[in-house]
Amino acid sequence: MIEQPAPLRERAAKGTASAMQRSAILNVMTKAAYRAGRSLKRDLGEVEHLQVSLKGPRNFVTAADRRAEEIVYEELTKARPDYGFLGEEGGPRAGTDKSHRWIVDPLDGTTNFLHGIPHFAVSIALERDGAIVAALTYNPANDDVFVAERGKGAFLNDRRIRVAARQRLADAVVACGLPHYGRGDLVLGRHEIAAAQNHFAGLRRFGAATLDLAWVAAGRFDGFWERDLSPWDMAAGILLVREAGGFVSDLDGGEAILTKGNIAAGNDTIHRELLRLMKEAGKQAANDPERDADKSPAKVVAAAPAERSGP
Ligand code: IPD
Ligand code: CA
Ligand code: CA
Repeated sequence: MIEQPAPLRERAAKGTASAMQRSAILNVMTKAAYRAGRSLKRDLGEVEHLQVSLKGPRNFVTAADRRAEEIVYEELTKARPDYGFLGEEGGPRAGTDKSHRWIVDPLDGTTNFLHGIPHFAVSIALERDGAIVAALTYNPANDDVFVAERGKGAFLNDRRIRVAARQRLADAVVACGLPHYGRGDLVLGRHEIAAAQNHFAGLRRFGAATLDLAWVAAGRFDGFWERDLSPWDMAAGILLVREAGGFVSDLDGGEAILTKGNIAAGNDTIHRELLRLMKEAGKQAANDPERDADKSPAKVVAAAPAERSGP
């Protein structure tokens, strides 16, 4: 029996949680995420203290991140010692079972965490023969746990979730990631944001891609797109959205999400429209004279030095 965080236990006790049966594999993933989450919650308290120190919490957060990954690794390999493991912090660790691999972001939303913003997650996906078959994204700050297994639907805190049904772009709220100083294509980003501003009711940038995708699955966001992501930012979310009845692809509409590192998600209509708008934005960015200016050597050198926090 896995010990659940208090709010989940209370919800279950009140009888408001449906009787979702967790499989053995989801139990393993949940246990790992809760343990890592407990460690992150403790560390978040310390981060809040460190904000006021001159040195700031950066080194402490790096250690917290690594600690969380080791906890997840330890729990998952205890239960499935043969599986491979790809974690953001430790990189790939080969397993003897070549068909199974965990893909893990132990702390997604590092910048939020660093600033004491309670919007971050532990995200775990299980890949079998190249396909994601189980997914979990857990926000320790509010105990939201999103899970999915292939063919079995997606759930938030044991309740079935579905993507939003909204069809009109003018009613839709979409989330995105933003390129920022020193990372990504700023000019393309500006054209993409303009396209979204011209069509959607609202645009959000919350800073944790795993939660952005989980929130699309839960119908909180109508859509999401982002570039320059890594497999651990997207692996769990791809299955969550699909099992919630949504559509996910790379920004060219194909399946190469994990290799290209970009993604669009939403219901059928919003997903299709996102692809169309982003393609249009790409054409405009290609003809934007600022794009060449942005890549001029002088600008690149001038932009090089600073150590900046992420998005
Ligand atoms: C980041 C977050 C963020 C996204 C970045 C990711 P991290 O992951 O998901 O929302 O915009 O591109 O790298 O670094 O916090 O694990
Ligand atoms: Ca991440
Ligand atoms: Ca991370």
